[in-house]
Amino acid sequence: MTRRFALLMTFVLTFGTGMAAYASEGGEPLIRQSWSFNGPTGTYDRAALQRGYKIYREVCSACHSMKLVYYRNLEALGYNEEQIKNIAKDYTYMDGPNDEGEMFERPGLPSDPFKSPYENDKQAAAANNAVPPDLSLIAKARPGGPDYIFSLLTGFEEHPPEGHTLLPGQHWNHYMPGHVLAMAPPLSDGQVTYEDGTPQTLEQYARDVAQFLMWAADPYMEERKRTGIKVILFLLVFAGVMYTLKKKIWADAH
Ligand code: HEC
Repeated sequence: MTRRFALLMTFVLTFGTGMAAYASEGGEPLIRQSWSFNGPTGTYDRAALQRGYKIYREVCSACHSMKLVYYRNLEALGYNEEQIKNIAKDYTYMDGPNDEGEMFERPGLPSDPFKSPYENDKQAAAANNAVPPDLSLIAKARPGGPDYIFSLLTGFEEHPPEGHTLLPGQHWNHYMPGHVLAMAPPLSDGQVTYEDGTPQTLEQYARDVAQFLMWAADPYMEERKRTGIKVILFLLVFAGVMYTLKKKIWADAH
């Protein structure tokens, strides 16, 4: 009994202090959502992805690049070829050299990567006090993924808690590890217009852009899950066949 108690205490103490250390270094526990893509048969919500892309395009892309995503990839969100061409041609790209050896500007094409807001990291840092990270893989790069992105975007506090002071250009966030970051709250109620009647609230924007960033970081998730289910079904059938076969082969052996 005492041994068991000692074991239990060791367990509680190890985990307890571990968790406390984690909580003080990191941000607060994340707000968990039930995403449509959770679970073994989960899929992306196309309408949410399109709204999320709109948020990225109209808000986040002013500071954050997404260099690993190409306009043609937007087909997965349900846009057709014509719509994608129209989206891409709103951006200007440097190309060349042409036959005279000159660089020239041209409208974007579906085969271009998303246009970056800055020429390089130095320019990005000079404009923002810190380099806004590329968002292509951010949903995979941060623990909690889409839950972290949702929590971060909704977790700003205008004034830091007592005993903390912020330098100019710093902002307080409940979920950012260390709580201080160089990004001002990028979203607020009513900022982006939704044509499909979805509520134009900070929470909704954050949920939609988190889903879009999850798709960008893991565009083949649905395919992978479908393949996984097929493999499991195959293995079940195969096991059944092998079992019957075994019964048959060994039927006469006593
Ligand atoms: C005005 C510029 C600006 C805009 C607009 C902006 N960000 Fe940021 N963002 C930054 C900067 C700068 C950082 C780096 C902060 C730091 O490391 O202190 C950052 C950091 C981040 C991070 C990483 C936080 C971490 O864990 O390190 C995420 C995620 C993020 N932004 C998401 C977004 C999303 C989503 C949007 C659009 C809704 C957005 N940002 C809009 C400037 C911006």
